[in-house]
Amino acid sequence: MGDMNRIRNIVILTGAGVSAESGIDTFRAGTDGGPSLWEQHRIEDVATPEGFVRDPDLVHRFYDMRRAAIQQKQPNAAHMALARLDAVWTDNLLIVTQNVDDLHERAGARRVLHMHGEHLKAWCTACRSRSAWREALFGRPPCPVCQSRSLRPDVVWFGEMPYEMDRIHAALLDADLFVSIGTSGAVYPAAGFVRNARDLGAQTLELNLEPSQGSAMFHETRLGKAGDLVPAWVAEILGGG
Ligand code: OAD
Repeated sequence: MGDMNRIRNIVILTGAGVSAESGIDTFRAGTDGGPSLWEQHRIEDVATPEGFVRDPDLVHRFYDMRRAAIQQKQPNAAHMALARLDAVWTDNLLIVTQNVDDLHERAGARRVLHMHGEHLKAWCTACRSRSAWREALFGRPPCPVCQSRSLRPDVVWFGEMPYEMDRIHAALLDADLFVSIGTSGAVYPAAGFVRNARDLGAQTLELNLEPSQGSAMFHETRLGKAGDLVPAWVAEILGGG
């Protein structure tokens, strides 16, 4: 993986594959052959603003189930290894996650950016506030800030702009190493980060169960489970420690 000694600034992109071994379904392939998240629902129905307008009950039920489920899950070895890297890496490091679960944080990672939002937050479309949220939204509970019953999941849907793109691009600009973990490379803009990082001079490494759609863009691809590959890579970059 090039010359490790020259690596200072790291950007890590994670996707559903990093949480698969915690028992959270990925979007495009089932964990251990189980059903994927989208197979049971059309994306247009549960992950677009138009779907929400058409059938808010369906959308609330879908996210209420997911929000309840993630609270029963635990971080796995991949989350733990990334948290350890975050704790000891003194140069810049940013974990950009497409995941809406909180398993990176529960493993102890601090430098985490949720570009697709978070299950454990609700967004009030009346007053635009975002509140920590663990309960169901199906019953239309009032917004803790303005009392309006206009809360929606704080999750970025198709057709909506991911969060904090400026901060992500600034980090990619300075990155010496870009690592993509457990993502299929099917959804932009995240799928384009490898090209951005590489064009800007970073080394690029992919850790995934199977080659992603953008696999050819990476300097190196390692195939396997995140729970095995990530701890091994972290040990390697920390000098075998
Ligand atoms: P996907 O479900 O598209 O891809 C998950 C990837 O993880 C696949 O390439 C799997 O092969 C791989 N994978 C599965 N199990 C793994 C394991 N144990 N270890 C390593 N890799 C494993 O999920 P994402 O790429 O995250 O967006 O999907 C991107 C976005 O699509 C999501 O954030 C979501 C969805 O639309 C929004 O909700 C806005």
